[in-house]
Amino acid sequence: MKIVYASRTGNVESLIESLDIEDHFKIEDGNEIVNEDYLLFTYTDGFGDVPYEVEQFLDHNASYLKGVIVSGDQGYGEAYCQAGDKISKQYNVPCLYKVENEGSKQDIDEIRKVIRCF
Ligand SMILES: Cc1cc2nc3c(=O)[nH]c(=O)nc-3n(C[C@H](O)[C@H](O)[C@H](O)COP(=O)(O)O)c2cc1C
Repeated sequence: MKIVYASRTGNVESLIESLDIEDHFKIEDGNEIVNEDYLLFTYTDGFGDVPYEVEQFLDHNASYLKGVIVSGDQGYGEAYCQAGDKISKQYNVPCLYKVENEGSKQDIDEIRKVIRCF
């Protein structure tokens, strides 16, 4: 399945590279259009917030969204990876995996298994 991702400081991008997925693209300004089912990878911003460009993107691409994988940092406590919870709730899709920063080798293996189901 197509993977769409957002990355500001490179962690999610590095995760995507480690997964070795062919069909992927990066959200830059949120104006991109997708016409097929996809999984979204995003980071968490602010205090548990969905990044602005991801909100913009989902505003007009939510109908094909099948699930979200979210990156965050445990240092944010209760706001850890909350962007994924918010997207899951708002668009009624599963939050498939929470990963800290760029993830460990084990995370990458787990994410591979999760996305293989789609
Ligand atoms: C300004 C800022 C705010 C952040 N807020 C949160 C947060 O509320 N919750 C969380 O889990 N991680 C938070 N993070 C951590 C990032 O989501 C995490 O490092 C992520 O891996 C960044 O992905 P990227 O390098 O692909 O942009 C924040 C990072 C920054 C720089």
